[in-house]
Amino acid sequence: MSIQIVKSIREMQDLADRYRQADKTIAVVPTMGYLHRGHARLIELARSRTDLVVTTIFVNPTQFAPNEDFKSYPRDFERDQRIAEHAGTDILFAPEVDEMYPDGFESKVEVERVSTILEGAFRPIHFRGVTTVVTKLFHITKPHLAIFGQKDAQQAFIIRRMVKDLNFDIDILLAPIVREEDGLALSSRNVYLGETERKNALVLSRSLQYAANKIQKGNHDVPELRREMEEIITGGNPSQIDYIAFINPELFQETDTITPPEVLIALAVRFGTTRLIDNIIVTLP
Ligand code: PAF
Repeated sequence: MSIQIVKSIREMQDLADRYRQADKTIAVVPTMGYLHRGHARLIELARSRTDLVVTTIFVNPTQFAPNEDFKSYPRDFERDQRIAEHAGTDILFAPEVDEMYPDGFESKVEVERVSTILEGAFRPIHFRGVTTVVTKLFHITKPHLAIFGQKDAQQAFIIRRMVKDLNFDIDILLAPIVREEDGLALSSRNVYLGETERKNALVLSRSLQYAANKIQKGNHDVPELRREMEEIITGGNPSQIDYIAFINPELFQETDTITPPEVLIALAVRFGTTRLIDNIIVTLP
């Protein structure tokens, strides 16, 4: 079946009801568009697991602060449509802002502690916007399965927390980060990088890999590892290092001790005005 574009919430809900009544399983891949191979991978995963694949494209204004890039966020609907279709999307749900947030809208969904740390400390309203819009997208697309990327590790944790806390009957699947051959994690925001910044940004994956190797060889000295990562990143001439954090992935809490089975190292760094995030999960031997 060729891709169907749906812009109306009512129409999307009716379609989802019809598929559910016919005993078909539904997966949703929520995105903000400007799709890349990382998104295509999420859609392919969805395709391999359910009967119907819904990809959503919505640049969600409520997760951007006024000083952030909502207006300039890259958009290319026709290209997105091609990529989504090629990767296996059945329905592309792409509502307008007024459809999602009509006049009078005033509800919010919030996951408390974990939305205030790390990314949340730098972007205070961000996760409230994400959890609110993801809740809406879940109610609109009525999926059995939702797929998110591990690249936004904190977002992924928060969505899982929300799904568990609020009893959404939806399985959440996380897909590994997709990288360019030279290590740069794919992101729609990479288009903002100039040529030199793009090269310099390789220090992010390099520093994460460096720390992962050292941890696997038995170095568990977090302050020293953080210092060494900072040195590597500084070599790429960043305009600001927002954080380099060692995190217990089960609780999503920063930690200074590395304990099995896994540690998550996450960072956010700015090159010029572009803010990039990246992370790695290190499994301890
Ligand atoms: O990860 C994203 O692209 C967005 O935060 C999401 C989950 C689509 C919500 O707007």
